[in-house]
Amino acid sequence: MNNSPFNREVIDKKIKELRIANTGKASIREIVALVNQVEKETGLKYIRMEMGVPGLPPSEIGVNAEIEALKKGVAAIYPMVDGITPLKEEASKFVKNFLDISVSPKVCIPTVGSMQGTYAAFMAASNAVSDKDTTLFIDPGFPVQKQQMMVLGQKYETFDVFHFRGEKLRVKLEEYFSKGNICAVVYSNPNNPAWICLTEDELQIIGETASKYDVIVMEDLAYFCMDFREDLSKPGEAPFQPTVAKYTDNYILFISSSKIFSYAGQRCGLMIISDSLFSRDYPDLQKRFGGTDFGSTITLRLLYALSSGTGHSSQYAMAAMLKEANEGRFNFVEKVREYGEKAKVMKRLFMENGFDIVYKNDLDKPVADGFYFTVSYQGMTGNQLVENLLYYGISAIALDNTGSREEGIRACVSFVRRDQFGDLEERLKLFNEHFLSGKVN
Ligand SMILES: Cc1ncc(COP(=O)(O)O)c(C=O)c1O
Repeated sequence: MNNSPFNREVIDKKIKELRIANTGKASIREIVALVNQVEKETGLKYIRMEMGVPGLPPSEIGVNAEIEALKKGVAAIYPMVDGITPLKEEASKFVKNFLDISVSPKVCIPTVGSMQGTYAAFMAASNAVSDKDTTLFIDPGFPVQKQQMMVLGQKYETFDVFHFRGEKLRVKLEEYFSKGNICAVVYSNPNNPAWICLTEDELQIIGETASKYDVIVMEDLAYFCMDFREDLSKPGEAPFQPTVAKYTDNYILFISSSKIFSYAGQRCGLMIISDSLFSRDYPDLQKRFGGTDFGSTITLRLLYALSSGTGHSSQYAMAAMLKEANEGRFNFVEKVREYGEKAKVMKRLFMENGFDIVYKNDLDKPVADGFYFTVSYQGMTGNQLVENLLYYGISAIALDNTGSREEGIRACVSFVRRDQFGDLEERLKLFNEHFLSGKVN
């Protein structure tokens, strides 16, 4: 029976044309292409929750600094591979102000988005010690990092943290690390897609276990200070963004400008390597890439080969945004709080219509409202839910794309406008009515 508000024939035709074999398992980009085409043909608008694009205008501080730098002629000049001095200095201060950790400007390195940062770091970590060739992902996680592994031809292992919170995390990490083949452990905090935030105790467990087994921790802070349950926005004042850097010296942090400054288009991120890891000599790494210490191998061998540095003007943008944040004139957290506000409403609409939150808690606390949330619907796998929702004008990705073992979908709030909440409510109501009453098979 065809009760869905969107034309089934059109959607099915587009699925065929795009040669999507299994709609529920489609990648983010496949869903994007499908929804674009259905919208074009039907003239109807989807509630688009599939892609994590910032839904806010870019920081003006960044834009103005970039224009000024371009007018001064930086476009003609290659930037230093390890970054321009003002950016390195502001980055070191930013890390002190918002994470409460001390690093020298030398170890703060701009990258072409955090994506390039992790790509280079994966290469370095997996070649540092010859018998440690496998990266461990604490999932669910950001699917593109697995793609990086695939492109690099590197080995990885993964587990879903859902059942391994608190002390159980130590047992799980010990199980993997003690095998001796793990070179690095990766996670995002706050987490894409589940928006869980690891607690101080959990970060301590990761840090201690990593130090014990000499594993490099890669902490992806793409959603830096976006746990809105606490006010992390005051430079130099507690509470700070929690970080593993308090508990180990074996870390690389990734800070992206894409979400916190809505600056995704300019592809500028920061890699912060601890001073001790930066200056460490790994004989196998030196043999493989011909460099010197770990940090210089990343900058002068890997980043040099990948892109010869990060766009000159975008580095000036980043430096200016960090400076204003450091000096208390730019409250970047306040600017993105809207994501949390929208999530609160959207989660309520889902829950009122038969859905459940999948990753519900950080141990004893409900997860924060933020950029993403996860939902399930009784009796449906995540893949079925993605597929069924498409006929109701709602697009998302299935959790199994993210390394989760739970059934459900990831909903991204950034692209959904408040004036679409009425449509979202109506579509969810209809969906729930149809599936509860068995009008749809
Ligand atoms: C967890 C995570 N890491 C990294 C990125 C990418 O960051 P960038 O745009 O700086 O490359 C994203 C973007 O969605 C993300 O969610």
